[in-house]
Amino acid sequence: MTRRPTAILISGRGSNMVSLIAAAMRPDFPAEIRVVISNRPDAAGLERARTAGVEAIAIDHKDYASKEDFEGAVQAALDERGIQLVCLAGFMRILTDGFLRRWGNNIINIHPSLLPAFKGLDTHHRALESGVRIAGCTVHVVRPEMDSGPIIAQAAVPVLPDDSEDTLAARVLDAEHQLYPRALALYASGKARVSGERIIFEGDAKSSDPAIYSLPAGD
Ligand code: GAR
Repeated sequence: MTRRPTAILISGRGSNMVSLIAAAMRPDFPAEIRVVISNRPDAAGLERARTAGVEAIAIDHKDYASKEDFEGAVQAALDERGIQLVCLAGFMRILTDGFLRRWGNNIINIHPSLLPAFKGLDTHHRALESGVRIAGCTVHVVRPEMDSGPIIAQAAVPVLPDDSEDTLAARVLDAEHQLYPRALALYASGKARVSGERIIFEGDAKSSDPAIYSLPAGD
């Protein structure tokens, strides 16, 4: 089995990054996490990655005159390490069309809502305001339009009557930690792949697999 050389881009605490690194510790996991890059030098996730034994570097966007220059530095770091797949995990910079074109279908993201609902920021606040009964998270291939692109996997959680933004965010985050490693495994192995602007599943992966569309209770 080939393990695809993979990078994780973060901006903050990196809890999704930790779940990806932990899953990729297994020798049969189809992605190898080679480097973590943060655009913020003070991101707590950098230290967490190093503690887990993964190289972690800061490339501070403020050190660069333009977005393109910043992304050029990120691209160089990815090229130096032979990276083939990029996972955004709480990476809070909008990437340019040029960078995204370079990565094509090989850049994926996790977003804390059931896309296409609640794109952008403040997802949990808006979910509560709108009165939806079900919230969740989405792993998708990244396209230039924000929070859009072929959906690899989604997990749903209930919105409870007494939820605050914090309690809902915690429930969704827990689902994110379970979903992202599963989605990465499917995608890195080629069992889930882009066809048109949708994801199709191959081999023993089925689109009816609960791991792809929701979470089995207690898992
Ligand atoms: C996660 O909830 C992730 O879905 C979200 O930021 C959080 C990062 O947490 N991403 C976005 O909102 C991207 N638009 P983490 O750093 O602990 O993984």
